[in-house]
Amino acid sequence: MERELALEFARVTEAASLAAARWVGKGDKEAADDAAVTAMRVMFDTVSVDGVVVIGEGEMDEAPMLYIGERVGMGVPPQVDIAVDPLEGTNIVAKGLTGAIAVLAAAPRGSLLHAPDMYMNKIAVGPECKGRVNLDAPVATNIKEVAKALDKLVSEITVVILDRPRHQQIIEDVRRAGARIKLITDGDVSPGVAAAYENSGVDILMGIGGAPEGVITAAALKCLGGDFQARLYPEGDEAEEEIRRCHEMGIKDVNKIFTIDELARSEDVIFVATGITDSFLLKGVRYLKRGAVTQTIVMRSASGTIRHIEAHHNLDKKPLFKDNHIKLMD
Ligand code: FBP
Repeated sequence: MERELALEFARVTEAASLAAARWVGKGDKEAADDAAVTAMRVMFDTVSVDGVVVIGEGEMDEAPMLYIGERVGMGVPPQVDIAVDPLEGTNIVAKGLTGAIAVLAAAPRGSLLHAPDMYMNKIAVGPECKGRVNLDAPVATNIKEVAKALDKLVSEITVVILDRPRHQQIIEDVRRAGARIKLITDGDVSPGVAAAYENSGVDILMGIGGAPEGVITAAALKCLGGDFQARLYPEGDEAEEEIRRCHEMGIKDVNKIFTIDELARSEDVIFVATGITDSFLLKGVRYLKRGAVTQTIVMRSASGTIRHIEAHHNLDKKPLFKDNHIKLMD
């Protein structure tokens, strides 16, 4: 993939972020998501790529845009898989909390895992801890290994976990091991990626979250040299149907541990994310007198370059965002 593509993708996540940011705190997660999806979809049409959405807003019959299998981009080479989450953290935006981002990952066609929208058990760590953790190892063992690799005390290690009843055991195990915990309300992509940033305040992400978010996190950690392991987690009444969907998508063994290289099977991955609200990774959208400022991370695994882009947008010159989201939704 050409390096210019990474910057074109940054315009796509910036657009989604600017659109969703209008909805911060308004209590309407669907409207926020619609705005982000619409903006992302419109911007994709300007990108020189022949993309197929492999992680998206759902199946064709349940999502009007950015559905799995949808072609995006101008239809010119390179042929790529696209994983998108125009608004990662819909509840976060609805409530005006921290941790929402607009995000996408791209890799050569056929190289990103096609995962249905179901749960996934995950562990994410930074580059120093690559090869040191195992999803099946006891929580305390993983924490000790990470502490050793980072040359920190166990009591200095911070584990980020989604605040859910299903994580009660992990939370107890982390506490018993003596490490610190940051519970989050939603949005496990940003802490998963932040684990690879020395100064982010996150050392490990653990627990069960969305599988699509898992693939996106793996793509980012591939660029950052971090590590990620995951196992799909069929659940409750839906389990049978989820397993059927996995088989349909080419996943034969639903119980296997996926390594980072199986989730993103290419050395040429691009990951781009723009902050909507403040997160471990990025500042959210800030409004100025005549516009707005966004923060975006752009990464390419091929070169290992990580760019942080602070963009000042003159909204008067952006027809898409000129007045407000209503224009976008018309
Ligand atoms: P949205 O789809 O509403 O943006 O939620 C995202 C998210 O919080 C992910 O970051 C996380 O992986 C997943 O949902 C957790 O799912 P649940 O809320 O069902 O525990």
